[in-house]
Amino acid sequence: MDYTGSEFYDNDANFAKYMERRQWQENANDTLEKPVILELIGAVQGKRILDLGCGDAKFAKDLFDLGCEEYCGIEGSANMVQAAAAAVKGYNASVIHTTMESWQPLHNTFDLVISRLAIHYIEDLDSLLLKIRQALKPGGSFIFSVEHPVITSTLQTSGTRTNWIVDNYFIEGYREQQWLGGTVQKYHRSIEQYYIALQQAGFRIDYLRESNPQRKNFSTDETYERRLRIPLFLFLSASK
Ligand SMILES: C[S@@+](CC[C@H](N)C(=O)[O-])C[C@H]1O[C@@H](n2cnc3c(N)ncnc32)[C@H](O)[C@@H]1O
Repeated sequence: MDYTGSEFYDNDANFAKYMERRQWQENANDTLEKPVILELIGAVQGKRILDLGCGDAKFAKDLFDLGCEEYCGIEGSANMVQAAAAAVKGYNASVIHTTMESWQPLHNTFDLVISRLAIHYIEDLDSLLLKIRQALKPGGSFIFSVEHPVITSTLQTSGTRTNWIVDNYFIEGYREQQWLGGTVQKYHRSIEQYYIALQQAGFRIDYLRESNPQRKNFSTDETYERRLRIPLFLFLSASK
């Protein structure tokens, strides 16, 4: 059985393994992905923020601590929505259970749209980008992270990565990955393809980043040095 991005997390065993992995000390999300996302997002005081593929929405608390005005999460997995609803309780926040594909944007509504590690599950990126642009107020930003194209080009089952074969890099599209004991569907794009898709949707691209590790985010030299070897995440920041 292979799953779409949302279905994967609705398998209870996959969901439990994913949530457990996120608790690991020095997990890649907290040491590599979150620091760059926070840098790119910058000041959020008074902002209305939409989070596509928000997962358990734990990030909402960070955003409210930084002064954001309102948070809305879009999430396709019922397991994740349940966790997210608990995480945002008491805040000026909502979580909508729908896929990014089915989501219908309210126009000119958000100052910032973010998406963290969810867009590599999307086949039709062009349609999604048009909706994101509609949802943004003029001058608003879209900031997202995806699994790095070096990784999605040739998804391999692996334990600890010490080297990585890159193959089929310029063949865009469908991939399957054995991950956490299940099979998940993903979509590969090269860096250039992400960049061009944003431009064609009418965005101005402001920043491109990779998950270049910073020693201060690691408790051990060993993990830091290992993370210097292979890029795990790609980030783009664009504006309307
Ligand atoms: C790797 S998790 C990341 C969650 C969260 N953004 C974070 O960084 O903690 C990917 C999330 O995207 C969601 N997702 C995947 N495909 C989706 C889709 N087509 N529509 C909505 N959510 C989707 C999954 O259910 C999952 O919660």
